[in-house]
Amino acid sequence: MTTTLITGANKGLGYETARRLIAEGHTVYLGARSAERGTAAAAGLGARFVQLDVTDDASVAAAVATVEADGGLDVLVNNAGIEVRSPEGGIIGAADLTADVMREVFETNVFGLVRVTHAFLPLLARSAAPVVVNVSSGLASLTRAGKGYPGVAYPASKTAVNMLTVQFAEAFPRMRINAVEPGYTATDLNRHQGVQTVEQGAEIIVRMARLGPDGPTGGYFDASGPLPW
Ligand SMILES: NC(=O)c1ccc[n+]([C@@H]2O[C@H](COP(=O)([O-])OP(=O)(O)OC[C@H]3O[C@@H](n4cnc5c(N)ncnc54)[C@H](OP(=O)(O)O)[C@@H]3O)[C@@H](O)[C@H]2O)c1
Repeated sequence: MTTTLITGANKGLGYETARRLIAEGHTVYLGARSAERGTAAAAGLGARFVQLDVTDDASVAAAVATVEADGGLDVLVNNAGIEVRSPEGGIIGAADLTADVMREVFETNVFGLVRVTHAFLPLLARSAAPVVVNVSSGLASLTRAGKGYPGVAYPASKTAVNMLTVQFAEAFPRMRINAVEPGYTATDLNRHQGVQTVEQGAEIIVRMARLGPDGPTGGYFDASGPLPW
């Protein structure tokens, strides 16, 4: 039996990933910061709800205790993420970037991912086949940067996620730890401007969550294969 935790899974790509992994036989903890939204989402899927705000130490510690008491964790999907916009809804480019915007985005996308990963490492270390999927973005790629999307904080946060992926993979060779780019997917994050469905977007997340011990680690992939860093 494979036990999987997905952060930010009450909607969007995380929710679709939960649905798919349950269909593949995983026992899924659906992490959500809101008990109301999380309970409703979990009930609809047959997932186990666990309250988890990635920016809150106490919430993450309580989630670890819950998952540990039920038997442990094999797969962690670090999916929770935000893209901060201006009050008018615009993408915040370099001219308007403030430290506060940068901090807000990093608090969830980077420090949150580190907080959750650090807290669940002891449980993952006890798994026979531990897997971590870090939901990054194509915008994280330095090779491809500067083409199209003028925002700074969000891509920078995902570039940091990619570095974390490489270094954690190096430090924990028994674990399969990869970064994935779902592709531009219609969700609340982009006011449903994305061109893919959540079914398409979740494809690579699900694939990397199902890796066996012989799978790749320390990589950056979309549904078509490896991406340039
Ligand atoms: N959509 C795309 O085109 C696209 C492309 C590349 C990468 N991604 C990445 O894919 C991931 C999922 O995004 P999505 O498109 O599915 O967006 P979404 O529908 O907005 O879902 C984001 C999820 O993250 C949760 N979340 C936000 N802050 C949180 C916190 N502090 N603690 C716990 N959960 C938190 C949200 O919970 P609430 O409901 O409580 O706000 C929500 O469940 C993100 O990491 C995003 O950067 C998306």
